[in-house]
Amino acid sequence: MIVTSDIDEVRRQRWVEPGLTWGFVPTMGYLHAGHLSLVQLSLAGNNRTAVSIYVNPTQFAPTEDLSTYPRNLAGDLALLEEAGVDLVFTPNDAIMYPPGFQTTVSLSQVTQPLEGSSRPTHFAGVATVVAKLFNIVQPTRAYFGQKDAQQTIVLRQMVRDLNFNLEMVIGPTSREPDGLAMSSRNALLSAENRAAAPVVYRALNAAKAAYNAGERSAEVLRQTMRAMISAVPQARIDYVSAADPRTLQELEVVADGVLLSTAVFFGQTRLIDNILIEED
Ligand code: PAF
Repeated sequence: MIVTSDIDEVRRQRWVEPGLTWGFVPTMGYLHAGHLSLVQLSLAGNNRTAVSIYVNPTQFAPTEDLSTYPRNLAGDLALLEEAGVDLVFTPNDAIMYPPGFQTTVSLSQVTQPLEGSSRPTHFAGVATVVAKLFNIVQPTRAYFGQKDAQQTIVLRQMVRDLNFNLEMVIGPTSREPDGLAMSSRNALLSAENRAAAPVVYRALNAAKAAYNAGERSAEVLRQTMRAMISAVPQARIDYVSAADPRTLQELEVVADGVLLSTAVFFGQTRLIDNILIEED
């Protein structure tokens, strides 16, 4: 496995054998089974697999958890080596944002609601760094997790709008046995908050069960989630949403699929999760 922070070296490796397909899994490290499931999808679907590990500062607001974001490069590299990854790109801030850097990729509509309303600068940071990573690695396919539902929609839109020559592949959310969506941020939860956090998935499932029982009022679905989460004293709701899965606008009536999603604080740690219900 080649580990490098050198952009030219990544490109050299990428084009040594031009006929090979490359899968790419961008990450911020502190890898868990969710990341590794994307790595497995990439290994199964491509001749070569690249992973990037970079905690991108531009997607964190000054008030957010950049300084406490968990890191474990040695552990991550051991997992990726064992999985059979070919190349790991580990840049630093000076490499990604050298002095004089001045370009931002921002999207006008799908970045506004949900995560965007709570984190207004987040998606410009994500889109910019992912555009750079795509240009550096030049993958055939790129792999992202459904847990970050809005991120997948934003990045698909960016790939369409900017004509990136790659296929986006979205892998299912990996969960702990109690249903909590796997996230590097789970490591930041106190024992008490960790015990309370599975309410997020329980609430999403309760809304899904209501939908399956015939409920089509989006507000009733939102209220179902709100009631269940707010009954847990450790949980502080940032938002609950029942939105159109394409535009991410809040729905009144569910007619053609719905993205049920929520963001909830447990202490200082903000967790997100979602269930996508495809059209009837
Ligand atoms: O999903 C993430 O881990 C990050 O947003 C990404 C895509 C690696 C960009 O920094």
